[in-house]
Amino acid sequence: MPRTRVLTGITTSGTPHLGNYAGAIRPAITSSRDASTESFYFLADLHALIKVTDPARVQRSTLEIAATWLACGLEPDKVWFYRQSDIPEIPELTWMLTCVAGKGILNRAHAYKAAVDRNTAEGEDADAGVTAGLFMYPVLMAADILAFNAQKVPVGRDQVQHIEMARDFGQRFNHLYGEHFTLPEAVIEAQVATLPGLDGRKMSKSYDNTIPLFAPTAQLRKLIMSIVTDSTEPGARKNADASNVFSLYQAFASADETAAMRRAFDDGIAWGDAKQALFERVETEVAPMRERYDALIAKPAEIEAILRDGAQRVRSTYVTPFVTQLREAVGLRDLSKVVVSTGADEKPRTTLPVFKQYREADGRFYFKLVDGERLLLQSAGFDAPKDAGQRVAALKREGRLGDDAQVGLGESVTREEVDAALAALRDAESA
Ligand code: TRP
Repeated sequence: MPRTRVLTGITTSGTPHLGNYAGAIRPAITSSRDASTESFYFLADLHALIKVTDPARVQRSTLEIAATWLACGLEPDKVWFYRQSDIPEIPELTWMLTCVAGKGILNRAHAYKAAVDRNTAEGEDADAGVTAGLFMYPVLMAADILAFNAQKVPVGRDQVQHIEMARDFGQRFNHLYGEHFTLPEAVIEAQVATLPGLDGRKMSKSYDNTIPLFAPTAQLRKLIMSIVTDSTEPGARKNADASNVFSLYQAFASADETAAMRRAFDDGIAWGDAKQALFERVETEVAPMRERYDALIAKPAEIEAILRDGAQRVRSTYVTPFVTQLREAVGLRDLSKVVVSTGADEKPRTTLPVFKQYREADGRFYFKLVDGERLLLQSAGFDAPKDAGQRVAALKREGRLGDDAQVGLGESVTREEVDAALAALRDAESA
């Protein structure tokens, strides 16, 4: 059974906090141990340049995030772990996708639209202060995903639109150049914990209310003690479900511990005692990881070596051959391979026929085989894109048409011509 490819990118623009840990890092590391998935984790440092213009901060954040994932138990020999900027094929693919991406679709991206709306409300020029990097963000993200033909991308709700765009760009490319890309799906983790920050709003760098995951013990305690609570007196019943302290506790405690804490809230535990219990619970989970983190951070050269090794392996295993295939598909080709016509009447084949898959207004899925302007094969409608895709794959594999009631020859096309085209495709694919 081929494993499902799951891909996650982390923008290197900040310091990991408890909210990142409980909401993203911890569940991702658990899922990386699932034998049915092949996991890709990468540091999205090219994305960081879109919002961070302080070079030292980009570097620091990259180091901290890499060390965090390793300290939290990511095993770089069991998953693909790399840094986006170590894969030059990603910006290359970004350009290929840029050339098929609809500008109108990018106009509708949430982050860009929010900036435009803000400008308009303030009577500014619509694009004031908007960089082309912000505008192109979804295309770079699509390249991250499509470069590996990732099938599942776990994301927060705010990122779902970007996955839809990646599907759209991939589909347009496939339509023009043949079936190269798997269309990814967003996986929205329904019950991923969103932790409250020090002030009760969602823990987030933009609210400046975070508790750094690897703050030294004394600072961790001090920050936890500073969590805002109401003024319910010791001994008076406290509502666990309305309490940040309780939500944070729950994110780190077992079901039994959580139930015991709920009783303590009913019994009127003092805020100071509840916070002390929270601190102890977090410290127990974090301390061994902090020790590994501190050791890793002290040896940045080792982290650098791990990242470079990951990039080098993932490039040679997947990206470099794949992007070579894509270059060929779009016509960035070795000129020495052009067969020069000798003037004989047989025209040499310089381009390959392509399969195109599409959906008609009747809602069904079709494919056709075209050679330049010439329609060689036309399929009947399929109920699911997968069925059409499987027929295409089988035709390519077999290299001949055989008996197939579901596809018909194009006008004035011979079966020999189709078989020759399919054989050429099969040979090119196995080359
Ligand atoms: N945009 C994502 C975020 O801000 C980070 C990211 C970049 C990403 N490339 C990706 C996530 C590819 C998933 C897949 O959270």
